[in-house]
Amino acid sequence: MKSKYTVLSPGDLHKINTAKQALALDVLIGLGEHPKMLPSKYFYDERGSQLFQKIMKLEEYYLTKCEFQILSRYQSQIADLLSGEPFKLIELGAGDGLKTKILIEHFLHRGQPFTYIPIDISEAAMKNLVDSFQKTYSSLKINGLVAEYFDGLKWLSQMKGGRNVVLFLGSNLGNFHKPQARAFLKSLWNTLEDGDFLIIGFDLKKDIDLMLHAYNDKSGVTAEFNLNLLRRINRELQADFETNNFRFFSTYNVFSGAIESYLVSLEAQVVHVNELGQSFSFLPWEPIHTEYSYKYLDTDIEQLARATGFRIVDQFYDENRYFVDSVWKVEKHSK
Ligand code: AVI
Repeated sequence: MKSKYTVLSPGDLHKINTAKQALALDVLIGLGEHPKMLPSKYFYDERGSQLFQKIMKLEEYYLTKCEFQILSRYQSQIADLLSGEPFKLIELGAGDGLKTKILIEHFLHRGQPFTYIPIDISEAAMKNLVDSFQKTYSSLKINGLVAEYFDGLKWLSQMKGGRNVVLFLGSNLGNFHKPQARAFLKSLWNTLEDGDFLIIGFDLKKDIDLMLHAYNDKSGVTAEFNLNLLRRINRELQADFETNNFRFFSTYNVFSGAIESYLVSLEAQVVHVNELGQSFSFLPWEPIHTEYSYKYLDTDIEQLARATGFRIVDQFYDENRYFVDSVWKVEKHSK
């Protein structure tokens, strides 16, 4: 079966080069900084996407279970809010699309006309998702896009006409720094039209140990997920990171409200990155920051919607109020 997805760039060779150049540039900048950092978007190569799917099944990683419960319980309320004219269901960071299946099945069941447009940074994840959805739902109109969120948004802005319903589930916004999150939502609002919807997931602030365990699982999958970033750099940029010389560490910053993840150098060492023609020195216990996972209060969410031009239409919580899927509407011509 032919996969229905598009890779967002003109030519294959060009794509390979630009993707590699972007990684090389971010590694050059990030490892040259003090403190050192690497962007979490590079977690998601083929292995990284598999590891994230494993994380979502972990006992400790409550986020996915909460969102499953929300979408299962409130699928018809959500469908009621969106019913009517056909729409494009655009999912940012679709991953394996498992949670989205709940909504898609319900929309198909109700005969709601829509086209599903998953957008994901990982081509491997996209191929799996599109193949599996085509096999399972023969009547589903699906058109995947392999792109970063921002590029996906640019592409979206060229496709005028028809309603848009954007899904940004699973606390993906939480991986943005606060100012970046605002800027992203503002540009999403600019891209969307009056009457369009955004369904966005937020992980709520809660018991600190619960959050810490979710990002520090007993079986070490999250550690492996982080260390895979070094393996990716070894493979794609011919570097010589010795992963045994680094340990994963995550902590909750009560002040900023984010789980912060790090890879910590266990000894003084020098890592050479062949593609950059450059070496980077590490002191013992020197960290590389790898990820922020921001947690929100209801009041943070209200402020964020207001500051970026959206109106909150409804909020759906899991039974413990650990997580919320918030339905926002774009209103550009307020009376
Ligand atoms: C994709 N993102 C919302 C996950 C999170 O919870 O921040 C990524 C992740 N990092 C460690 N575990 C899961």
